Amino acid sequence: MSEARISHAATTARISAVVTNTACRQFAFPGLTLSLNKQNMAAALAEISSWPGYGAAPLHSLPAIAAHCGVKTVLYKDEAARFGLGSFKALGGAYAVARLAKQHQADGREPSEMTVATATDGNHGRSVSWGAKRVGCAAKIFIHQQVSGGRARAMQSFGADVIRVDGNYEASLAACKRKAESEGWHIVSDTSWEGYRDIPLQVMAGYSVMASETLEQLGDQQLSHAFLPVGVGGLAGGVVARLWQAMGDRLCKIISVESKKSPCLQQSIAAQTPKLFDITEETLMAGLSCGEVSQLAWEILQPTVSHCLSITDQAVAPLMRLLKRGLDGSPSIEAGECATAGLAAMLAARQDSNLWSALGLNSDSVVLLIGTEGATDPELYQSITERH
Ligand SMILES: Cc1ncc(COP(=O)(O)O)c(C=O)c1O
Repeated sequence: MSEARISHAATTARISAVVTNTACRQFAFPGLTLSLNKQNMAAALAEISSWPGYGAAPLHSLPAIAAHCGVKTVLYKDEAARFGLGSFKALGGAYAVARLAKQHQADGREPSEMTVATATDGNHGRSVSWGAKRVGCAAKIFIHQQVSGGRARAMQSFGADVIRVDGNYEASLAACKRKAESEGWHIVSDTSWEGYRDIPLQVMAGYSVMASETLEQLGDQQLSHAFLPVGVGGLAGGVVARLWQAMGDRLCKIISVESKKSPCLQQSIAAQTPKLFDITEETLMAGLSCGEVSQLAWEILQPTVSHCLSITDQAVAPLMRLLKRGLDGSPSIEAGECATAGLAAMLAARQDSNLWSALGLNSDSVVLLIGTEGATDPELYQSITERH
């Protein structure tokens, strides 16, 4: 029953390009020399797990997908319910805002005197808006033209001021930087650049909580592969740093997944130096639409990612419907557009035997997928999953 539906959905999954990272594992395990280290990841776990409403995100096993692909286990870290915000992003921006507020208090100032600002495709802005509401400060959120009205309203519901900017994500980031500088606002970005590292480092420390939980949930199982979706690379960087810290030289194979319309990490790995990708068309996987990899993420991903895959949008809708209906042995899963990326890449790779063996996938493989979001845009989720 499940197999026919999986095979049908798998036919829609397409890889548009593969880049093998020649720099992968040409390194000695850096341990504490990484900026994102044991201390700041442990601090994030201690703080976030103390927040009201905290619970580890479920790690679902997808046995029907594992059987289809011929691997031992496929695990899906389901971030749909994270703090009621709908995505893993709840762990990052809100945590960075909480740290800023503590710093203000330590300096004898009230958080209510502080304003935080960010550019976003939606989910990061929702986290910053929620975090600002939690600590009682103002939030200014810059969005580009393609960000849906539903996503804008979700941020406004936390009291944030939402400012729409002409152009793409990079344009919204430039506008945010300009205005924050002139107004003295704190930029809480999920991406880092030359001279701007402290806050995105904390955002990534927040994301590392996903990996801390996963390691706990795995018990005796050892991961062999992780397919990690990449926008600016913060999620992948946060997860890899924590896995690397735990697994050392036995770090599992890390495979990045991007949209064909915004493959900034893939092109940077091909060039072995960060490259700007000019986005001319928006992917349905809105959270992945980023043209430049975060500097901090680059430092973690360049030595650890073995292959960079970019995928088309075609499998997004069929996989959202497949996960919603539920498969033999697994529950119904609310998967938003970005949440399908890792699964789409794995199903597409399965159809190419050369790629499958280059990725080292076989019947012993234990694969981690991150279901990064649920119905973060409920209207879009409904319109996609109720088709057919
Ligand atoms: C749902 C979702 N998945 C994945 C990503 C990619 O994360 P990052 O930009 O940290 O690489 C994002 C980023 O906004 C997102 O919102």
